[in-house]
Order: sequence, then structure tokens, then C-alpha cells
Amino acid sequence: TLKSTYKIASIPGDGIGPEVISAGVEVLTALTKCKKFEGQFELDFTHLDWGTDRYLKTGKYTPEDYLQQLKEYDAILFGSVGSPSVPDHISLWGLRLAICQPLQQYANVRPTRILPGTKSPLANCQPGDLDWVIVRENSEGEYAGQGGRSHIGEEHEVATELSIFTRTGVRRIAQFAFMVAQGRPRKMLTYVTKSNAQRNGMVMWDEVVREVAKDFPDVTLDHMLVDAMTVRMVLNPRSLDTILATNLHADILSDLAAALAGSIGIAPTANLDPSRKNPSMFEPIHGSAFDITGLGVANPVGTLWSCSEMLHWLGESEAAVGLMVAVEKVCEAGIMTKDLGGSAGTKEVTQAVIEELGKL
Ligand code: NAI
Ligand code: MG
Repeated sequence: TLKSTYKIASIPGDGIGPEVISAGVEVLTALTKCKKFEGQFELDFTHLDWGTDRYLKTGKYTPEDYLQQLKEYDAILFGSVGSPSVPDHISLWGLRLAICQPLQQYANVRPTRILPGTKSPLANCQPGDLDWVIVRENSEGEYAGQGGRSHIGEEHEVATELSIFTRTGVRRIAQFAFMVAQGRPRKMLTYVTKSNAQRNGMVMWDEVVREVAKDFPDVTLDHMLVDAMTVRMVLNPRSLDTILATNLHADILSDLAAALAGSIGIAPTANLDPSRKNPSMFEPIHGSAFDITGLGVANPVGTLWSCSEMLHWLGESEAAVGLMVAVEKVCEAGIMTKDLGGSAGTKEVTQAVIEELGKL
């Protein structure tokens, strides 16, 4: 049989990005060579030095033809963008949003669960009690980038930030979320809006989600307002399974979800183009973490879990599951970074995962 080779663009970016992406590449490379998966598929990495250093030298985060370049790959592995030397809205729009939006990666998928051996900050919340997938609209909404500033710096300065909700955009993400919910044992979808106070776009969201629901009669649907949702996530995590929300709301809720599951350092993201016309992008949800950059203590688990999501998307589900089994064994053995209450460094966790892969 012909072995598949997947071309992966790796963009480590800024801050702890290079530290965690090195860990990801090392582990993925070891996975393709370990006893269990050897010979099944190969990963061919190309490292792209796109990030703030490049911006400071050239005025651009990426080369002009960056989208053409990216389209040559099967998937993108991304670290983080953001540096104390550049305002965050410049760096985020210069690199991460400049990839997600034009490549129509409209579905942002964020699984969260408590890994064995780790502890939720919620009292009495055990692994199994919190097992969610958050589906975030990733192409429009509050992050559509529309708006402007007039009379800049004057007392009467005015700024607008316009949210854009399209029926097509809401329908496609709702369909995607229902399919995710359908594929999980509990078949439950909770969708989140703020349609009491925001009476236009959010009300359309509610209508479109309920229309799409008719095609998924086997999925149990319920609705939450975003403020009440934060309370439910903290007080009754077991009552939730798959969660659908807008770009802004899901951005915030997924950070909360990661913290409730133990640490922002473990949480993965997939930025998917479900049409598969463009490559999808996989990244930990955390940012550059300036406070720990270069210290060798960054938790690589969020990146390793993202690598597992990437393998699923590429169709290598057995390897994807194997990778998470190895990560969970390492957590269970107490080999964890400081954010999870352990004392291991990035390299020790990475090596331990590689050893576990060898035992599969
Ligand atoms: P952050 O996620 O970088 O850090 C928040 C806190 O979590 C810090 O105390 C950090 O040390 C800790 N933390 C994050 N990742 C960790 C890991 N893997 N292991 C252990 N601890 C970890 O968020 P913050 O501070 O709001 O943003 C810093 C920069 O990152 C900003 O420039 C921001 O714009 C950028 N950012 C970029 C993102 C992206 O590229 N996707 C996402 C979020 C933030
Ligand atoms: Mg965020």
C-alpha cells in the first residue's frame, strides 16, 4: 500500500510558541517512527519564520504570497503570535487572523476535558465530570474587523466596532456544531447567544440555529444566554457536552473552560475549513505567555493535544488516539509542568510522552 505523506507548515511564532511547537514536532516525528505507527504515514514539516521578529525587520508578519504558500500544505501547526513590542491588535491581525479568515477556517473547535492525574479548580469535579467541545464561529461576528475611528485623540473621538452576522455564516457553523454533537455519545448541543439585550444579530442566530435543528432530530438542543452560561459552566459542568457560540463569546468561554479543566496550558484548538478547500490550522489556545518565555516551563500538552486533533483531521485517527493515550499516561504519572501543579519542564514532559509512544 502507498504510504501517505502529509505536508505540514509549522509556524512557531512568538513567545513560548517556538518552545511548544518544537515539542509538538518532536513528538509527532517520534510517533511516525514508534513501533505501533511506524510505516503508516509520514509528516513532512516546513518551518516558516513568520512572527514579530520578521515584522520588526520587514514591516510584515508574512511574505506577500503567504496564502498561496499555505495552500500547498495539508495542515498548519501554529504556536502563538503576540509580543510586548507590538500592540496586540496589530500582531493578531497581522498573522493569526490573516490566516484563519481568508482560508475560510470558519469552525474553531475546542475540546476540553480534565486529564487523568490533573485537578480541576472546581471542588469535587473529577475527570469525566467535565468533557466538552466548544464550537466557535471563526470567520465573522464580533471579530469581522469592521468599524473605524474618527477625530482620533480629540475629546469627541468616536469609535465603532461592528459585528457582522450572516445567515450563511451562522447556518454553516450551526450545521457543523450539530454534526459534532451527533458524533458524541450524549448528542447534546447547547447554543449560546445574548438575544435578550442584543436584539438583531443574536435573534437571527437563535432563529437560524432552530431552523438547522430540524435536520438533526436526534440531537437534544438547549439555549443559554452567555452570562448565565458562565454560571452553569462553573456550577453544573456535567450538564454540558457540545457548546456552540459566536466568535467573541466562545473565545471567552473557552478560556474559562480551559481554566476549569485545570490549566490554559492543556487546551487545544482546531481552526477548520470543513469544505477542505483550504488547509486547516491547529494551535494551543494559549498565547505567547511572556512571563514564562525562555524558562523551559511552558506546558506542551495544549500543543500535543492540538497535534492529535490535526491527525484526526488528516484521517489518521488511530495515531491521534495513540498520541492522547501517551499524553494522558504522562499526566497520570504526575509528570506535569508547574501550571498543573507539577515540577517537570517542557522537555521532560515531551520526553516522557515520546517514551510512552514507544510502549504503545
Ligand atoms: P497567554 O495565554 O499568553 O498567558 C496567560 C497566562 O497563562 C500567563 O500567566 C501564562 O504564563 C499562562 N500560560 C499560557 N500558556 C501556558 C503554557 N503553555 N504553560 C504554562 N502556562 C501558560 O495570554 P495573554 O497573557 O493574555 O497574552 C499574551 C500574548 O499572547 C498577547 O500578545 C496576546 O495577544 C497573545 N495571544 C495570542 C494568541 C494566539 O496567537 N492564538 C492567543 C492568546 C493570546
Ligand atoms: Mg482567546
